[in-house]
Amino acid sequence: MSHNPAHSPAQLSPRDRLIVALDLPDVAAATAMVQRLGDSVSFYKIGLELTYGGGLGLAERLVGEGKQVFLDLKFHDIPNTVERATAQVARLGATYLTVHAFPQTMRAALEGVGDSPLRLLAVTVMTSYSDADVLEAGYACTAAELVAKRALQTRDLGLPGLILSSEEVAAVRQLVGPGMELITPGIRPAGSVLADQKRVMTPARARAAGADRIVVGRPITQAADPRAAAEAIIADLATV
Ligand code: C5P
Repeated sequence: MSHNPAHSPAQLSPRDRLIVALDLPDVAAATAMVQRLGDSVSFYKIGLELTYGGGLGLAERLVGEGKQVFLDLKFHDIPNTVERATAQVARLGATYLTVHAFPQTMRAALEGVGDSPLRLLAVTVMTSYSDADVLEAGYACTAAELVAKRALQTRDLGLPGLILSSEEVAAVRQLVGPGMELITPGIRPAGSVLADQKRVMTPARARAAGADRIVVGRPITQAADPRAAAEAIIADLATV
């Protein structure tokens, strides 16, 4: 499936490289945002908050309208549960699903994907984890070492991609080679508000660092003109 030409990262248009994070309080607000963005945006990420607020129905509607959907649900459970839950997400028609990069979890999720076009993205180590957090969680290594180990395990198990911070992209790209899809949040167009993001890259810089797609939320959803903000980001991606 990682060889599906529709997903070949080299062939993506700048528009298809932009994934808008629908981090909005409810389905009504998210639906209104999707309508405002119209055909400027082809891909949406739905996370835990919106999922538990009716977002799965919205995800199905978006798929029905020809949009691509990234369900950021970060699965991690016993293999039977992960496999069956992943199969449900595959039936829903999502393009991407996140899972934590534990080998047992990744193997189970791959079973759940089966022959569907769903593509798994692994989360190696949450970017909120410092070296001290990694130690406290029981791992005798640094966060960077754990990221590297899990990135290679993800590739070797045959998952198609990773979601990772923009500052990790260049090193991880070098480590895993050109075959994996790397998708990154933490993107801010030049001159925009950082909010709670500390280390960010512009769309073009993230792309140049090796990201295949970028996830952008507030710089678009909180812009006075979200559609213009999305088009500006797509134009920036087109410069690379
Ligand atoms: O609004 P903003 O562009 O910062 O949103 C980025 C999206 O990516 C949010 O959905 C956020 O949860 C997600 N994300 C992130 N940084 C990470 C992991 C996920 O910003 N390290």
